[in-house]
Amino acid sequence: MLKKIKTLLLMSLLSFTVSSVCAQDAESFVDNLLSKMTLDEKIGQLNQYNGDWGATGKITPDGDKEKQIREGKVGSMLNVTGVDKTRKLQEIALQSRLGIPLIFGQDVIHGFRTTFPIPLGETASWDLALIEKAARIAATEAAAYGIHWTFAPMVDIARDPRWGRVMEGAGEDTYLGSKAAEARVHGFQGKGLGNIDAVMACAKHFAAYGAAVGGRDYNSVDMSNRQLYETYLPPFKAAVDAGVATLMNSFNDINGVPATGNSFILRDILKGEWNFKGFVVSDWGSIGEMIPHGYAKDEADAALKAIIAGSDMDMESRCYKNTLQKLVETGKVPVSIIDDAVKRILLKKYELGLFTDPFRYCNAEREKAQTNNAEHLKFAREAGKKSIVLLRNKNNLLPLNKNTKTVAMIGPFAKATVANHGFWSIAFDDDSTRIVSQYDGIRNHLDKNSVMLYAKGCNENDNDRKGFAEALRIAQKADVVIMSLGEGPAMSGEARSRSNIHFSGVQEDLLKEVAKTGKPIVLLINAGRPLIFNWAADNVQAILYTWWLGTEAGNAIADVVFGDYNPSGKLPMTFPRTEGQIPIYYNHYNTGRPAKDNNDKNYVSAYIDLQNDPKYPFGYGLSYTTFDISNLQLSSSKMTADGKITVSVDVKNTGNYDGEEVVQLYIRDLVGSVVRPVRELKGFTKIALKKGEMQKVIFELKSSDLKFYNEKVRYIDEPGDYEIYVGNSSAATLKGAFELVN
Ligand code: GLC
Repeated sequence: MLKKIKTLLLMSLLSFTVSSVCAQDAESFVDNLLSKMTLDEKIGQLNQYNGDWGATGKITPDGDKEKQIREGKVGSMLNVTGVDKTRKLQEIALQSRLGIPLIFGQDVIHGFRTTFPIPLGETASWDLALIEKAARIAATEAAAYGIHWTFAPMVDIARDPRWGRVMEGAGEDTYLGSKAAEARVHGFQGKGLGNIDAVMACAKHFAAYGAAVGGRDYNSVDMSNRQLYETYLPPFKAAVDAGVATLMNSFNDINGVPATGNSFILRDILKGEWNFKGFVVSDWGSIGEMIPHGYAKDEADAALKAIIAGSDMDMESRCYKNTLQKLVETGKVPVSIIDDAVKRILLKKYELGLFTDPFRYCNAEREKAQTNNAEHLKFAREAGKKSIVLLRNKNNLLPLNKNTKTVAMIGPFAKATVANHGFWSIAFDDDSTRIVSQYDGIRNHLDKNSVMLYAKGCNENDNDRKGFAEALRIAQKADVVIMSLGEGPAMSGEARSRSNIHFSGVQEDLLKEVAKTGKPIVLLINAGRPLIFNWAADNVQAILYTWWLGTEAGNAIADVVFGDYNPSGKLPMTFPRTEGQIPIYYNHYNTGRPAKDNNDKNYVSAYIDLQNDPKYPFGYGLSYTTFDISNLQLSSSKMTADGKITVSVDVKNTGNYDGEEVVQLYIRDLVGSVVRPVRELKGFTKIALKKGEMQKVIFELKSSDLKFYNEKVRYIDEPGDYEIYVGNSSAATLKGAFELVN
């Protein structure tokens, strides 16, 4: 009976709280709620636990989570999936004294029920509308499964392909990365929090996580503040400007201070300069990791440094739960700091509408409607095919004829299913039935009278050559061989740095053996990063970089292989010739001794044992047709400080297929108060042209586009001479020039 009275009391309190929501605005509602909270309840809001699976870090045994939720000691859960599970935990949360609802977070990185290409691959589409729509679909599906918050987009600029997490971001370029960040935040948050299909986005990992020394995950980062502002912060600023609800800090130390306890980036820049009003969640256990960093001597020291620096929520370290009460009671942490963090979190719960209806994301009908959604699968196929990059097509081997008599498909990924999801996919138990393997995709496209042979040939990462003979046997019988090689899906992603980024295992040996048969080969490269495959690049007729394309991988690949779609992807990262060339990226400085050409070794900045250029440059990608980009025109040879100029080119489809081209605009600031990159992407547009069709493409360039951070880390533009390059990669040669005048 007592329990029933208590529940009734609570419900009446909640109903009062709930009914008050309509009348009061967010601030006054939250301030009112905050005024009722004990210190223990406030600290509870800063505490996030992992749920039932998907741990990406150390799990600390912590006894009965549900009991703690009931006591108001938990503010958020991650990795709790589905309306049943989230409803159950939400019901428990509402039994706490003030009935503050939980927020449920998950790594919805590139899709949820429907998996899209890994973000690096999707960025290769250079199609911002597509990127946004994929995030929108992911949010719609995740929200239907009770998820309020995704730990995405990852916006870390990365110039080192040894780092496994390049797969998760938008590559090496700050401009493209900023555009992708904006698109993904808009996609995830849709028309804004409060809409039932919106989820909070989380720009991560703040900051400069992609600059880990040696491309080794979690390693240190050390750079000038100028470089930090110039290269690594802009995608986060783009996310904040796009209204991102949260940020997640990174594991690494930056210039000696771990990001988690780094008040320069969290308080001075993010919450100060940028006036960010959302909240910051730590990365998994990163608060506690300041102890092994050697920056905190114990949990209390770690908690103190993190909360003071501006990390609002503690994912899975328990430092806040275990020590903040005493830190406040002993005056080491002002309660105002706690209140600020709690208020930021409660405001988001309010914006999500969870005080009005804590169960609004727990709708079984909506969950069912977002399961195996045919429209979403159709778009996944669209996203997949537009992410594929054609690297080589000697003698126009591609597209293949659907009536090809005999096709042999060989390789460890040919019949894989869940592997096509790549890392960071919320793979569901029934996914293997939904995922279209590459083999099935090819089979589905081939004429029914065509013969399709298959041999795995080898495993993804061992020295077993027993399958070679069978592979060679079927290759001999085929008119064309399709080989699906690369690196395993779990060889890129978090904690997946590789010192050797060639094909893993004996895959390249298998390729060479099959090539000896003289059969034409179409090579599909499955990867979460740029790989090194120089032999294949110089000897295999046709190469498609297929990343990991998600649920519809097989159909997307087959659409391209058989020409139902003319590939249009462009590389979002530079591809090195050897690991020794790393870091190599297109927007480098010129140095005082630039090499004159690829083979200049004469006292210039070059390796004596390797040619100077990358294997493939940033922005590179071929088509089944050809495009001519010509007639670069500037509206003026002078740009005034508050002015702009337009840049136009003619783009003509000069080949035999309709197709799409990504026209890219780069600038070069010839002389600056600091040295300036030899190229900087400042615009791009993807256009579709029928064969023979020509279109004028016009870019607008403003003086603000020329700004950079000077030696004093001030964002300025400087008068002087600039070059413009327009083309279909960062190696564009079509050139113009103008002067920025005062
Ligand atoms: C991981 C990742 C982070 C992810 C979090 C939750 O360690 O670094 O990106 O969102 O933990 O899974």
